[in-house]
Amino acid sequence: MSSIRIVGGKPLDGEVRVSGSKNATLPLLAAALLVDGESYIENVPRIDDIHVMIRMLDSLGADCEFIDSSTLRIDASNISSVRAPYDLVRKMRGSFYVAGALLARSGEAEVPLPGGCVIGSRPVDFHINGFKQLGAVVREEHGVMYARADQLTGAHIIMDSRYCSVGATVNIMLAATLAEGTTIIENASREPEVVCCEQFLCDAGARIEGVDTNVLTIHGVDSLHGCRFRSIPDRLEAGTFLMAGAVTGGDVITTSVQPRHMTTVLDVLWKAGLQVEIGPDWVRVVGDRRPMAFEINTAPYPGFPTDLQPNATVLAALAVGTSIIEETIFDARFTHVDELMRMGANIQVKDSVAIIRGVRKLSGAPVEATDIRAGSALVLAGLAAQGATEVSAAEFLDRGYEDVEAKFRNIGGDMTRIAMPEGGSAEYAETR
Ligand code: EPU
Repeated sequence: MSSIRIVGGKPLDGEVRVSGSKNATLPLLAAALLVDGESYIENVPRIDDIHVMIRMLDSLGADCEFIDSSTLRIDASNISSVRAPYDLVRKMRGSFYVAGALLARSGEAEVPLPGGCVIGSRPVDFHINGFKQLGAVVREEHGVMYARADQLTGAHIIMDSRYCSVGATVNIMLAATLAEGTTIIENASREPEVVCCEQFLCDAGARIEGVDTNVLTIHGVDSLHGCRFRSIPDRLEAGTFLMAGAVTGGDVITTSVQPRHMTTVLDVLWKAGLQVEIGPDWVRVVGDRRPMAFEINTAPYPGFPTDLQPNATVLAALAVGTSIIEETIFDARFTHVDELMRMGANIQVKDSVAIIRGVRKLSGAPVEATDIRAGSALVLAGLAAQGATEVSAAEFLDRGYEDVEAKFRNIGGDMTRIAMPEGGSAEYAETR
């Protein structure tokens, strides 16, 4: 257990180099299981969720090794198990991606069903229905999904158009890549993270038409070959730092980004009256005035990403006027709201809508992170607030943000990690 102590009220100023994307790299690592040979994935972030996925690949018999600070070599020539350990799936839902890859590669997958999640109910029925439509026999017993298919065969799969599920698109696409015949996935996700996986698969020899659209046509191939591929920059990390600049009245440039992945988010910052400058691979936000109120509803890409909704709530909490934020993707993603109210925010949540009446100042307080993105929102609130904030359960941030304190400290954030000794609660050991 650890917490982050922040002394807020200082404008952040400077440049942040954005890391590779967590949600793009996790599918790439699962997709590498389909490859009969070596894959080299560049721009891999050193974060806890990636380390969990590497342990997952290891446990299935793949050989993984960082050959430099951010390039991972994965050799999946000798897959020796089709059983995903519960301990790893429990830690991270993204590990369910190995189901589609194992089913395609080995004709069998035994993957524990990921449980509930603090941001809402997160079933995997779309994934499982897709596997069944591809001809797999699937049963669920004692909390485990057992799927089997001597030969997967192409199918026409129409997914729920409300969600365009990220995870189900990836999992079904992984399975369909080595299926016999053609698979069509309608209402596929178009998130940049999914498109990144489509591009990797094509580079490795898959035949996918409709890359970067909502309709994927996948002509199954016999095998995939090794390749070298670069994961995309993390648009969620970039959005987090830009909003941190905005809420602290600072001036932050994010570099190594793909601005075209961030247009909806930048549009919100611009509508909030902030100065936004965009270069080929950088974005700058200057918070030279209090933001103005805005309205957003989260939606599948290219809509406003649910993963930046908690950070947008902090921006709205400090804006002039009343903002409305509607969460349409997850049914319980306002866990940060009560904590923000303890810091002086004025927010009312009715069902899936938050009505946020902006205040001039937040005040530092002890608060608790409940997931990665709620944690990052509380860090932003702490950086903007007067006085000290302590964000407990800071491990959530380590799951998704590389070198989070160092990056904030480099642009003037006053942040200290406090590690709680094993079994202890009263005594704290400070680490930098
Ligand atoms: N859904 C179903 N059944 C399914 C799959 C999804 O009902 O079989 C519903 C979910 O309950 C949810 C909606 O569909 O209401 C969208 O879920 P989706 O499948 O798109 O999300 P996911 O694949 O589980 C990924 C990211 C999340 C991100 C969402 C939405 C990864 C590893 N996770 O989750 O990221 O919020 O897409 O963009 O890529 C995070 O990084 O902190 C995070 C939670």
